[in-house]
Amino acid sequence: MIYSVALDGPGGAGKSSIAKQVAKSKGIVYVDTGAMYRAIALYMLKHNIDIHDHEAVVQRLNDVKISLEYRDGTQCVILGGEDVSTAIRENPVSMAASVTSAYKEVRAFLMDTQRNVAKTTSVIMDGRDIGTVVLPDAQVKIFLSADPVVRAQRRHKELLEKGQTVDFDTVLADIQQRDWQDTNRTEAPLRQAEDAVLLDTSYLTFDQSVQAVLTLIDEKVGK
Ligand code: DC
Repeated sequence: MIYSVALDGPGGAGKSSIAKQVAKSKGIVYVDTGAMYRAIALYMLKHNIDIHDHEAVVQRLNDVKISLEYRDGTQCVILGGEDVSTAIRENPVSMAASVTSAYKEVRAFLMDTQRNVAKTTSVIMDGRDIGTVVLPDAQVKIFLSADPVVRAQRRHKELLEKGQTVDFDTVLADIQQRDWQDTNRTEAPLRQAEDAVLLDTSYLTFDQSVQAVLTLIDEKVGK
């Protein structure tokens, strides 16, 4: 049986690392929709398009060639033939993606790609609007959240481990700004679907969070 798991929630709640592990355990495909929004933002930044200029962004959309490739079960994002999986994680790209993803045309541009993957194979798809808009009929819907301070602490630690020096207050402010933008936009804002289960990971370890998601999947679709 083909099934879909919609995993939504704010940035830094642990969606992607949890989804990757769950996908591995269940032998299903992990689709990181945030990476697609990030690739669009990266394209605009690379081509010096003002990301706040809605019209200018929309005009260039059809030049953006994004594809997803899976290597050893890991999703790689290819932009115009170049693997940008690492570049899209930079902070300026995160902030820009939160701006350009608010544009209706940007969302429509990615919708079919996202829906099509889920038609042919079982997926765990993470994002902001998967349970509400992209896959409203997903068999499992989870809204993953965590206290903003806890999310900022995790992100800060991650950046330090990568050798990037950023102060904690900046990381927290960026998280709060993205939360605000993602939640208050008109198009497909970040919100919990009515039939989604809320999973707060503030006080859960990574393994406990993975286990909680696996249990929810087993309950809904069987082992
Ligand atoms: O999950 P992420 O941090 O990689 O997402 C980057 C940005 O993309 C985020 O600020 C909001 C946007 N996004 C979205 O609007 N809808 C999605 N389904 C996924 C991400």
